[in-house]
Amino acid sequence: MKIDFGYGRPSECSTTALVMFTTGYDKLSDKRLMELDHASNGTLSGLLESGEFTGAVGERAVLTKPAGYQADRVILAGLGDKKAVKPDSYRCAAGWLSRQRTLTCCPSATFHLGAANDPQVYQAVIEGYLLGSYRLLEYKTKVNDADKNRLNELTFAVDHKRLLKRLEKAVERGRIAAESQINVRRLSAIPANDLSPTAFAREATQIAKKYDPVTCRVLDKAAIKSERMGALLAVAQGSEQPPRFVVMEYSGGRSGQKPVVLIGKGVTFDSGGLSLKPSDKMIEMKGDMTGAAVVLSAIQAAAQLKLPLNLVGLMPLAENMPSGSAIRPSDVIKTRKGITVEIISTDAEGRLLLADALDYANEFDPQAVIDIATLTGAALYILGYSGAPILGNHAGLLDRIRVASEATAERVWELPIWDDFRNSIKSDVADIKNSGGKTAGTSTATAFLENFVGDWPWAHIDIAYVDVEPTGRAYTPKGATGFGLRLLVELLSRWKKL
Ligand code: BES
Ligand code: MN
Ligand code: ZN
Repeated sequence: MKIDFGYGRPSECSTTALVMFTTGYDKLSDKRLMELDHASNGTLSGLLESGEFTGAVGERAVLTKPAGYQADRVILAGLGDKKAVKPDSYRCAAGWLSRQRTLTCCPSATFHLGAANDPQVYQAVIEGYLLGSYRLLEYKTKVNDADKNRLNELTFAVDHKRLLKRLEKAVERGRIAAESQINVRRLSAIPANDLSPTAFAREATQIAKKYDPVTCRVLDKAAIKSERMGALLAVAQGSEQPPRFVVMEYSGGRSGQKPVVLIGKGVTFDSGGLSLKPSDKMIEMKGDMTGAAVVLSAIQAAAQLKLPLNLVGLMPLAENMPSGSAIRPSDVIKTRKGITVEIISTDAEGRLLLADALDYANEFDPQAVIDIATLTGAALYILGYSGAPILGNHAGLLDRIRVASEATAERVWELPIWDDFRNSIKSDVADIKNSGGKTAGTSTATAFLENFVGDWPWAHIDIAYVDVEPTGRAYTPKGATGFGLRLLVELLSRWKKL
């Protein structure tokens, strides 16, 4: 996708499709719309009066060759109620529009945002368009001609030249965020027969090669053994696929500055192990490495955005399979930290490999640690597909995640870690056990992780279920969502010492 910038009035934009956004509820009090109505002989006010177009989110109206306009067609995209318009309304409007043939049949289009000179709006529009139009085509041998998106040149037009620089930067930020999020979706959607721990580690190595201040180290099974990561090894031992532990470092900050450490769960397939999942649950588990994909892509985005901080990404990677060599319920394993764990369910594997990664984070003397993981099915009964539970040990860090969440519309909500939950993972035979039973699954899983957290601010983001979209929404087509990428990139973009 080629992205250009220009300036001038809407009527002066020479393009196949001129896209403008409107709330519609102010009817034709908007000067630009009044001009357009005039040029189209009252067509627009007619559409509004008949109720054919109301300006609701997702609605659109198309005017063909309005008199005096250089554009072949003008597409009006609805933003919803004027009082409720936020940057995400633009993200949604652009997302719905991105799959409409009236736009995708055009080789080029111009978005004219009129008086909306807020950089966040520009960022939201490009994010909405790119995220909404993404489709995984790698496994399709044929694509219907009519389904092809012909749009390959997008121009953002502004009223005044002096605004260009600031808005260009915002569009570039949005492009980087959206493309990184699309990379998360791609990795989430690749099935486990193509994305083993080894293949995932290769993706990380390739990204590190592309960006100068990014380095990547891959620990193979032998190196994982000499690090005594007993929990990661235990999860991997039932699979033919060997585990990997990826360490990526991005040094955009001064040397010596403590890094922010990101940890992502990288279970390339979660069958449940001997505590086998029912098949209707297992089918979703190629996406159980989404946390690791978010971390990988966040580091890539940080490098592209040249963020002024140091980052470390830790990605423990394993496949959870049942076999003669798999861990059993009742086994006791020893983690890198030395804490022993009684295995109650081999399906509670994510917290095991995160335990070793959290402990390994100490090697980097972090200023803060954030882990992100498709960790608990219980998250579905808390926030559903609508938001992610967050938990942690530092109010300031959790607050910042909430602020980033509002800016990106990737919603989060805090849950507690109470002593009840800590008590529920006490074991009769080992130090702790890996499951606290049926109740409060998200909190008990986090109470487990807490045992491996060092003396630093820490937050945990549970992205189980928000990692997939069941039906399809504005800029989130059905399938892998890439949730968490925009959230982390926004958080890191505004990073200050805690
Ligand atoms: N990967 C799953 C959690 C999950 C479920 C993510 C559904 C996305 C959608 C995790 O490894 C798991 O199996 N958790 C168990 C833990 C239980 C056995 C204590 C769960 O939540 O059921
Ligand atoms: Mn599991
Ligand atoms: Zn899992």
